Amino acid sequence: MMEIKKVGVLGCGLMGSGIAQVCAMAGFDVTALEIEQKFIDKGFAGIRKSLGRFAEKGALKEPADNIFARLKGTTRKEDLADCDIVIEAIIENLDEKRKMYASLDPIVKPAAIFASNTSSISITETMTATKRPDRFVGLHFFNPVPLMKLVEVVRTIVTADDVYETVYEFGKKLGKVPVRTSDKTGFVVNRLLVPYLLDAVRAYEEGVGSIGDIDVAMKLGCGYPMGPFTLLDFVGLDTTYYITNVMFDEFKERRFASPPLLKRMVMAGWYGKKNGKGFYDWSNPEQPVPQDAALRGFAKE
Ligand code: 3HC
Repeated sequence: MMEIKKVGVLGCGLMGSGIAQVCAMAGFDVTALEIEQKFIDKGFAGIRKSLGRFAEKGALKEPADNIFARLKGTTRKEDLADCDIVIEAIIENLDEKRKMYASLDPIVKPAAIFASNTSSISITETMTATKRPDRFVGLHFFNPVPLMKLVEVVRTIVTADDVYETVYEFGKKLGKVPVRTSDKTGFVVNRLLVPYLLDAVRAYEEGVGSIGDIDVAMKLGCGYPMGPFTLLDFVGLDTTYYITNVMFDEFKERRFASPPLLKRMVMAGWYGKKNGKGFYDWSNPEQPVPQDAALRGFAKE
């Protein structure tokens, strides 16, 4: 197995900054690539805040400043040349991902492993943009990355065994629990989670209960940390809608098809917590307000 010392992270948004953070917390040197410095500043500010929360609880093994010192931000691809693994967390768009990897392939050392944090785009279709498809895997983290214990390690039909095992062990070194899966759309978690979330929207459309009651029911009845509508707002309605379309395209099954209400909300620009409105109004994040009144006409009385 190959030794990983230096990690490259592509994209410093919600997922990319979380991935960079857990890598630095685990002792790796991390270089995060963004297209503009302002995105690095924003991502790193989030990392500082999160490290602060861990530090307050005494949950860090070393001072937050030491962890932060292992993180570098850059806008130059050349700075990733000597990385041992490069983890991509850019926009969920196949062309953008292929372009990114095609441009990095001649720059990053040939022995390095490429990994994608995609939730739904085919690893197989992305890896063919490079000359190292055998050194290409999926490494799927969950939001919020610093807290969620799982990472899905995704192999394709050409992934080399030593590459796969190296990444599996790397997942453990990050303090995560890795699970083995393969490049089938949705992997394990979204394959099961997405139909559940869509069913919650359908149940709401059919008048089974209010947004708040369905959330309370699933939270308290099943011991889930969040009800389905809170989780939808948390993940992002646009992100969920995108994933459902990719999954429907793959399987052609109704359980992966977006309910009309979800589509309408995305078309109207209601993306959930990130932009203030989804199934709840998040103007006061401490007290989200369910939007049943605004959504009347879509749910049976
Ligand atoms: N960094 C550090 N600490 C954080 C943090 C962060 N980013 N976010 C929250 N915390 C801390 C809080 O300070 C709090 O600390 P305390 O216990 O000392 O007070 C603790 O974590 C718990 O946070 P909260 O009290 O705010 O809220 P919860 O108890 O509800 O926990 C949660 C938050 C962990 C997000 C929990 O609600 C949860 O597990 N929700 C489900 C999330 C989920 O399902 N994610 C997967 C989505 S699917 C996905 O990502 C796949 C993609 O492909 C779509």
